[in-house]
Amino acid sequence: MELRAAVVLAAGKGTRMKSGVIKVLHSVAGMPMISWPVAAAKGAGADPIVLVIGHQANAVQGVFRGDNSILCAMQEEQLGTGHAVACALDALSGFGGTILILCGDTPLLRPETLADLLKFHDEHAAVVTVLTAVMDDPYGYGRVVRDEDGRVIRIVEQKDADPQEQNIREINSGIYCMRSDFLFENIRAIGNSNAQQEYYLTDLVSIAVQKGLACLAMSTADADEIMGINDRAQLADAARILRRRINREHMLSGVTMIDPEQTYIDFGVNIGADTVVHPNCQIGSGSVIGAGCEIEQGVSISACRIGDSCHIKAGSVLENSELHENVAVGPMAHLRPGTVLQSHVKIGNFVETKKVLMGEGSKASHLTYLGDAEIGRDVNIGCGTITCNYDGVNKHRTVIEDGVFIGSDVQLVAPVTVGRNSLVAAGTTVTVDVEPDSLAIARVPQVNKVGWRLKKK
Ligand code: UD1
Ligand code: CA
Repeated sequence: MELRAAVVLAAGKGTRMKSGVIKVLHSVAGMPMISWPVAAAKGAGADPIVLVIGHQANAVQGVFRGDNSILCAMQEEQLGTGHAVACALDALSGFGGTILILCGDTPLLRPETLADLLKFHDEHAAVVTVLTAVMDDPYGYGRVVRDEDGRVIRIVEQKDADPQEQNIREINSGIYCMRSDFLFENIRAIGNSNAQQEYYLTDLVSIAVQKGLACLAMSTADADEIMGINDRAQLADAARILRRRINREHMLSGVTMIDPEQTYIDFGVNIGADTVVHPNCQIGSGSVIGAGCEIEQGVSISACRIGDSCHIKAGSVLENSELHENVAVGPMAHLRPGTVLQSHVKIGNFVETKKVLMGEGSKASHLTYLGDAEIGRDVNIGCGTITCNYDGVNKHRTVIEDGVFIGSDVQLVAPVTVGRNSLVAAGTTVTVDVEPDSLAIARVPQVNKVGWRLKKK
């Protein structure tokens, strides 16, 4: 296969986002915008990929830290797309093959489309191939000007187009395939005498045509795909389209969605067959959900591993937690990071957990806080139980061994251990370790003063 590299332009600020964060770092369906075209380029076999960065360069670089196929080139001043590509070429010196050029603000671009473009470029032995689309409203885009025979002759920007050119509906997507030798030889021939006094990459089209080199356009049927995001309204549109794609894939692999238009699943989530997802759920990147689960309405799941046949009831929030099979959680429970629930555990309403291991079959059915605790199997945690894990300075651990029964309204002042098979009576504040098979009870003896209320009156 021919050698392929890619250049992704991402140095601009994205003023129209009206944001302190540069455009390409805004998240779309769980990934920074820039990650989408980079993934598409990778998917089409490009290696290396050179990112042209400028504004907030460190932050953009940070997204790809540790990825050896990504190189970064600095563009200190944003003098135009042609200048941006020139900045990238140092990083590609010595490279011979095809160079894909993309913009960082096209998250809907699919790898399949880039593969088609590369194929078209190769099959036609082209020097430059531009990906274009026909749009009902081409305003703002560069237009593809063709001669009487339909051959591409140049690209004219909105701001430089005469009224006749403004009527052209075929637009430049900003995505190109170019032969590297052509690019190296001609990138510095681009001038900046235009309406914006910028170095336009698009001028390479007329340069190639003037030299009699094969310069072609491939038109894509799906204009959505090349949509460039410039403002937050377009960001929301793109996110909606990506979510539809993601949801469709899950549905085709056996997941039921009650209302896919109101189901918010990020990129990179795995869900098993016969799992049912109700509306208004939010499932973050990297989560894995097993088969045959039910995720009720309004559940939020981030970075969790959930086994088969679990039932997550309405309004629950699960963060960085691990659930084995047949676990029930909620409604309105909060599993905070470090929660591990083994099979058949039941967590009921208004229960909060953090850094807790709960053994098989254990239950905390109502109104409870469990933090920094190790709980064995078949333990019953009564309503209103609190692990008092924080003394104002340090966190301490509570250990509750197998088969323990904790009555309602119990406080466990950590560090403390309740031994296997013991019973802690309702209302007890446990401050010392409880030996196995014991009863722990700490209550002020009750006094009934008969007739007391009558005397008061
Ligand atoms: C560009 C094309 C236009 C095309 C449109 C598609 C040019 C001259 N015009 O216009 O024909 O229809 O894309 O969306 O190429 N960038 C840099 N450094 C710069 C300038 C831009 O890195 O100096 C980056 C931006 O961050 C952005 C991309 O290049 O990711 C495109 O730049 P933008 O200013 O959005 O170009 P358009 O005006 O949209
Ligand atoms: Ca743009």
